[in-house]
Amino acid sequence: MKVVGKQVPHDSAIGHVTGKALFVDDLAFTQNELIVEFIASPVAHGKIKSFNSVELAQLDGIAGVFTFADIPGHNLYGPVIQDERFLAEEIVEYVGQPIAVIAGESRKAIRHAKKKLRLEIEKLTPVFTIDEALAAKQFIGVPRVFKQGDFEKAWSTAEHTLAGTFVCGGQEQFYLESQAAIAWPGEHGEIHVHSSSQNPTEIQEVVAEALGLGFHEVVCVCKRMGGAFGGKETQAVIPAVMAALVATKTKRPARIAYTKDDDMRSTGKRHPYKIHYKTAFTTEGKLTGLNLEIYSNGGAGADLSTAILERTLFHADNAYFIPNLFFKGTICKTNFPPNTAFRGFGGPQGMANIENVMQEIALVLKKDALEIRRLNCYDHADRNLTPYGQVVRNHLLPEILDQLAETSEYRRRLQEVEQFNRQSTTHLRGLALTPMKFGISFTTKFLNQGNALVNVYKDGTVQVSTGGTEMGQGLNTKIRQLVADEFAISYDDVRIMITSTEKNNNTPPTAASAGTDLNGMAALNACRKIRKNLTEFASSYLLPPDSGLDPSPENIIFENGTIYDDRSKSRFPENKITFRELVKLAFMERISLGERGFYGTPEIDFNRETEKGEPFFYYTTGASVSEVLIDRFTGQLKLERTDLLMDIGETINPGIDKGQIIGGFIQGVGWVTNEDLRYSDKGELLSYSPTTYKIPNIQDLPEIFNVDTIENPQHKINVRRSKAVGEPPLMLCLSVWIAVKHALSCVRNDAIPRLNLPATAEEILRRITELDDDSKDAAGNSSVDESEVSLVSLPILSAEKK
Ligand code: MTE
Ligand code: HPA
Repeated sequence: MKVVGKQVPHDSAIGHVTGKALFVDDLAFTQNELIVEFIASPVAHGKIKSFNSVELAQLDGIAGVFTFADIPGHNLYGPVIQDERFLAEEIVEYVGQPIAVIAGESRKAIRHAKKKLRLEIEKLTPVFTIDEALAAKQFIGVPRVFKQGDFEKAWSTAEHTLAGTFVCGGQEQFYLESQAAIAWPGEHGEIHVHSSSQNPTEIQEVVAEALGLGFHEVVCVCKRMGGAFGGKETQAVIPAVMAALVATKTKRPARIAYTKDDDMRSTGKRHPYKIHYKTAFTTEGKLTGLNLEIYSNGGAGADLSTAILERTLFHADNAYFIPNLFFKGTICKTNFPPNTAFRGFGGPQGMANIENVMQEIALVLKKDALEIRRLNCYDHADRNLTPYGQVVRNHLLPEILDQLAETSEYRRRLQEVEQFNRQSTTHLRGLALTPMKFGISFTTKFLNQGNALVNVYKDGTVQVSTGGTEMGQGLNTKIRQLVADEFAISYDDVRIMITSTEKNNNTPPTAASAGTDLNGMAALNACRKIRKNLTEFASSYLLPPDSGLDPSPENIIFENGTIYDDRSKSRFPENKITFRELVKLAFMERISLGERGFYGTPEIDFNRETEKGEPFFYYTTGASVSEVLIDRFTGQLKLERTDLLMDIGETINPGIDKGQIIGGFIQGVGWVTNEDLRYSDKGELLSYSPTTYKIPNIQDLPEIFNVDTIENPQHKINVRRSKAVGEPPLMLCLSVWIAVKHALSCVRNDAIPRLNLPATAEEILRRITELDDDSKDAAGNSSVDESEVSLVSLPILSAEKK
């Protein structure tokens, strides 16, 4: 009967493929329901001079046009720094920024009204790139500095030094279900919101604050999301507030569901970064010092940028011991939608940078890059202190690198690849093996908590509610497995209920990969309270009068749907009871069959004054090796083979975890290869739909794809000794990007090829041309644009303008 560790299908798998799983906008329209849309800023930076909102509100089929002045509570919000407005007041700061909410009887009426829109905005100078923000001194928050040892000394006494700049672009979350919310007005001014959100508690609180209500007057529920990937951690609040505002003002149900185009144009993405690095190392290849000047492009509001930059600092070491370091991180304020969470949360950018550094050290020393990576990899007894003072314990990083090098035949294939590159005039091959270490826990301590409500019914079936949200990652399936095993009942007898702030209060977002860790532990905590109640009752009930034994709860066993006293098992084999019978009897004896559980992650602590501590409960680790084939004339890339190896502890569900590993890796491959956000020089997103923004599809999977996990007997903590798996595999994609860098390094052996991220065909071709062109200094001085944002200065008409 045990299900933990078994490949149980995702509990919505059939619903997902048959279309029967319901998402927010699938909910049937209720009587009198209004459609809600918004009027967005067409300019990146400007001052609103006039807006014919009153005229629009009077048009046929329009129930209301609401501006910031109509918001009864606060218009200002933000998860860390309150610097964003739900609806723009005087100034607009990005293209797509909501200026007003428009509610209508039909989409047609709203479309008609939008044609009558007269919006006058005086343009102000926009800032788009990190360099422009630096020149304008536009920042968000304050810079953060991590220090260890003495970098300056390491640099001035180094056997070798290397300096350069790493540049990477952003990434669109590309969830299939766009941002959506439905709000129902309730009695006494209460509001009930259905939201496609990773964070129902935040929706509850922010809606309440915007409407001037108490938190107890708002309920937020989320059945599931059609993907979120971090994009619905904070940014689901805007549509939720819009729907709630309309519901409050009109006393009618109100529904908003962004179109894909609007969603892509108006919401934040993964942060583009620019990192200047200076590194000192020995002739052997050991890193002795690293200095990083890190800049992220935060967009127009703080959103989660401060926490994301912090995670970049925490992951700038990736898997390597750095004895002397100085990292400084700064967030630049620009005129784009506020950038936000995306799987990895700043980790990928920091890790890509150090993998680039490792590759370059190998090129300088003319050594194999794996040798350099292995030499610098965190060890066990010493060389395991992170830049922030946490010791990397109970890990298998060197073992993972060695095992993967062996099973993927890295060394033999490296020789073949380099031989191929010496001969081929049409193609290049590249091979790279990169490690991955990702810290598990929210780095903001108070977020590391979860609560759960477990109700056992009189027929022995169980309902579980937690603050965790299901976005496709399989959280509900895993919690169902955990609860079924805790009561030793069948998986079918357990159901996970809709996530609601009414049942679970003050919950963190389902994020940081900690969904199962926090909510699974809270659910088990609730189950254990019920089991305790049942055990005490069963201990006296189960013993026959002539047994001569005293009741002993410690001897009560739950197994295969039955409960017995293990001391009397052989003597009184009939003396057992089914879970269902026990529950019924316990109810008659007025024993509580419903409990709330709570869990707070132990041990973690981090001091932001000293920038030292133990922010992470543990690390999920792994490595990947990828081989790419590049067409020298087009720059086109083919992923020929990838082998992944991860330490994910003892899996709760191997099928779901494999899905997360493959899905995360491929999503990362999109970031490092094809996903290129292009903007007009006015800050309009040009790549705002699947026709212009290329996410990976089935043909982009590696032709040979081996996925494996490694056993780690030293990992003895966390729920059923599992490890979080949601975000970490994304960063296995770095082997693909570094494999491209390896391929380019075979074009000329006297130069370090530069490569921005993503390595699109265009970027690769540009770099091959740069290397081929003898008249240029390929090691550094090309005139190629090094901006993290692709601004296109062609006059491009947007869909509406056409
Ligand atoms: N998997 C699917 N199918 N859809 C998603 O939106 N989000 C990822 C990951 N896997 C996501 C996903 C992200 S960004 C995170 S943080 C984790 O799932 C969140 O869920 P968990 O904490 O339960 O792993
Ligand atoms: N990922 C990682 N860390 C985080 C996140 C996330 O989505 N949210 C807050 N801290």
